[in-house]
Amino acid sequence: MQILEAVVTTTQSNGDVHIAPMGPEVDAGWSCFRLRPFISSQTFHNLTRHPQGVIHVTDDVELIARSALGRLDPLPSTRKADRIDGFILTDACRWYAFEADRILNEGDRAEFRCRVLASGRQRDFFGLNRARHAVVELAIIASRVQFLAEDAMIDSIERYRPLVEKTGGPAERRAFDFLEEFIRESIFNGRSAGGG
Ligand SMILES: Cc1cc2nc3c(=O)[nH]c(=O)nc-3n(C[C@H](O)[C@H](O)[C@H](O)COP(=O)(O)O)c2cc1C
Repeated sequence: MQILEAVVTTTQSNGDVHIAPMGPEVDAGWSCFRLRPFISSQTFHNLTRHPQGVIHVTDDVELIARSALGRLDPLPSTRKADRIDGFILTDACRWYAFEADRILNEGDRAEFRCRVLASGRQRDFFGLNRARHAVVELAIIASRVQFLAEDAMIDSIERYRPLVEKTGGPAERRAFDFLEEFIRESIFNGRSAGGG
């Protein structure tokens, strides 16, 4: 089992798509995986009400950054899946439509065992890139801004920025700037875990 940094679509109570990055544990055969959403997340509520969704392999780190903070505007293009009632992101590299069984609630996280019912390939994965990895790391930090120390977050911004400047393109720079601004504003507005 390994953790894949993926993007999950679930269905809202009004039938709209919800998009969030999540790190499922996947096995080599891709027949099933485990999702561990925080019980405070919209993804958890959606899966509890409608236990079907689609996970996506993507190299679009701007999508990861903006969806981690609920700031997707406009929403990316989607189409309805056939085998389940759910949504496929049309620009993702690969997708896996699943049905989820909740197997455990542990503290503030739940665990769903997800069985893959259908999958597809839409385009090639770009490949490894340090700027994209830096954006993923900063997106995880930004999504945990209330729990992390200010100094550690600022250190991360300073450590990752050169990777984005040296190896990224415009989308990585935009995503990194967006995350940096969100983190600095959260610190300024006292919504982070405080100094130290
Ligand atoms: C790469 C990445 C992986 C993440 N993995 C998880 C995860 O496994 N579980 C989780 O609850 N939140 C995870 N998050 C944070 C959520 O995406 C973020 O808190 C989101 O706003 C919560 O989802 P919601 O939109 O369903 O409320 C991850 C964020 C990133 C950027």
